[in-house]
Amino acid sequence: MIEKHLIGRLDDLADPGSREFAIQTAHSSLRGFVVRKRDTVFAYVNRCPHAGHILNRSPDSFLSVDREKIMCRSHGALFAIDTGVCVEGICLGERLQRIPVHLHEGLISLAYDAVQARWVETQDRFAASEAQPRK
Ligand code: FES
Repeated sequence: MIEKHLIGRLDDLADPGSREFAIQTAHSSLRGFVVRKRDTVFAYVNRCPHAGHILNRSPDSFLSVDREKIMCRSHGALFAIDTGVCVEGICLGERLQRIPVHLHEGLISLAYDAVQARWVETQDRFAASEAQPRK
């Protein structure tokens, strides 16, 4: 069974911009964030590969000052927005955990496969009325 979770609208994100989310399902809990870069959205688990801290210290703030990278506020590691790979800092070469994103008609959604117990790509069309609101 696929559980669908609406994160928000593409138009509500700055370009580049980021937003955090928290999802609790019957089988999983997830703290993550999305980053918009032009018309593409990337999602990652909010956990730094260095020491396991959350990356942000203030709400929705995941980008470096120049907004070109994702930045961990604990020790300053920088990650590529499109791959999640650390390109500068103490965990060089390690990567953030990617979450598949579904972008359809301006809506950003995630899909959780409760049978396989993992976040998945899906070709399903997400209607706003089917998805759960952002928490
Ligand atoms: S916990 Fe992120 S750089 Fe140390």
